[in-house]
Amino acid sequence: MTEAVIDPDPNVASEAYWMPFTARNGFRKDPRIITGADGCYLITDDGRRVFDSLSGLWCCGFGHNRPEIAEAVARQLKTLDYSPAFQYTHPGVVQLAQRLTALAPAPLQHAFFTNSGSESADTSLKIARAYWRMRGQPSKTRFIGRIKGYHGVNFAGTSLGGIGPNRKLFGQITDADHLPHTLRAEDAFTRGQPQGGEELADHLEQLVTLHDASNIAAVIVEPMAGSAGVIVPPSDYLRRLRALCDKHDILLIFDEVITGFARTGEAFGADTFAVVPDMMNLAKALTNGAIPMGAVLTTDEIYQAFVDEDLPEHMISLPHGYTYSGHPVASAAALAALDVFEQDGMVERSLKLAPLLEEALHGLRGLPHITDIRNIGMAGALQFAARDGDPLMRPYEAGVRCFAEGLYVRWGGDTLQFAPPFTSTPDDLQQMHEILRKVIADLR
Ligand SMILES: Cc1ncc(COP(=O)(O)O)c(C=O)c1O
Repeated sequence: MTEAVIDPDPNVASEAYWMPFTARNGFRKDPRIITGADGCYLITDDGRRVFDSLSGLWCCGFGHNRPEIAEAVARQLKTLDYSPAFQYTHPGVVQLAQRLTALAPAPLQHAFFTNSGSESADTSLKIARAYWRMRGQPSKTRFIGRIKGYHGVNFAGTSLGGIGPNRKLFGQITDADHLPHTLRAEDAFTRGQPQGGEELADHLEQLVTLHDASNIAAVIVEPMAGSAGVIVPPSDYLRRLRALCDKHDILLIFDEVITGFARTGEAFGADTFAVVPDMMNLAKALTNGAIPMGAVLTTDEIYQAFVDEDLPEHMISLPHGYTYSGHPVASAAALAALDVFEQDGMVERSLKLAPLLEEALHGLRGLPHITDIRNIGMAGALQFAARDGDPLMRPYEAGVRCFAEGLYVRWGGDTLQFAPPFTSTPDDLQQMHEILRKVIADLR
């Protein structure tokens, strides 16, 4: 058997592996290799324990290596490793759909399964277009996203996303308009939700004037923008967006790939912000990150548009799905993750830890270069001033140094981002604060 080799030079990762979203030169200079995990900690190849302040990539909020999930996955692999997703089903995915829709806000009654957040984005947008066709309004095809939004990396998600560097290399893929983002200078250093924000949602009226609602299928937004650095919606924003979508008969899609499963302090962002979308995209914590899986939850109204009792029995009404939609092993992982979510009280844990995370982050105010600190539930971000015109440099340097000091933190754009596991202890968060304080104080 050949042994996996990282690289002939042990300090350099093999270039056979083309890494996603990775700065190659920085990584080669300073490879970061994880070989294990334990609860809230990652374990590096040189045996160091590093606090996981982003739950992996926002996905392992219930802590790493949960035995309940590992055992469910192992059991499933020995019973039914795969079952054809089209025209057949298996009990696990049916049960999962029932449990998910029971947990989600009441109008969301149906679950369509995908394998990632990116696939959930494209799936929800395709369902939106198909829905209007089924309803006899085929001109409703346009989509509206939001500046600073992130909906993954597939074609539609890339276009509807609003983080410039993620899009510019690929050109315009699908036609898309964007609402303004909700990051207002006057809200800097707000703890939790800023106030107001209706006027930001009102920009939808301008897009309706421009295109006419008869041509617009859906608006897609993250209830709280995660990847752009935890941009918390002002208190009146999402309610206003919902009202305008209702007024103009436009579907509202919440991308809850990050906010789902207690990240904002309730089961879903829709619960925290008390606004229910027509579709909700999920992934990440759905399986606690253990196995890839995503889902799109829809209202009964949307589902019913595809139900036609007169359709010949061999005809498919939604020609969409993935080989691995509702994969048995992913379903087993998700069911076990849901058990953990409920039995270990993740919502309660999130609510209880949120003030400690808030303090750990806002307690850094006054350190050099920090221009904003934001938080909601168990998510937060620090924003940094550009150095020599480069907004990315300081977060990058801080992130790399934190890792050396025992803290994994995600750098993205001009921010450092935080979403620690709900199983973190107060001590974990305190140590995170101390490492950040030391590293930021030394930043140039
Ligand atoms: C809001 C949101 N949507 C979609 C995605 C894409 O998910 P994936 O990387 O699983 O495709 C992400 C990933 O961070 C996300 O944060």
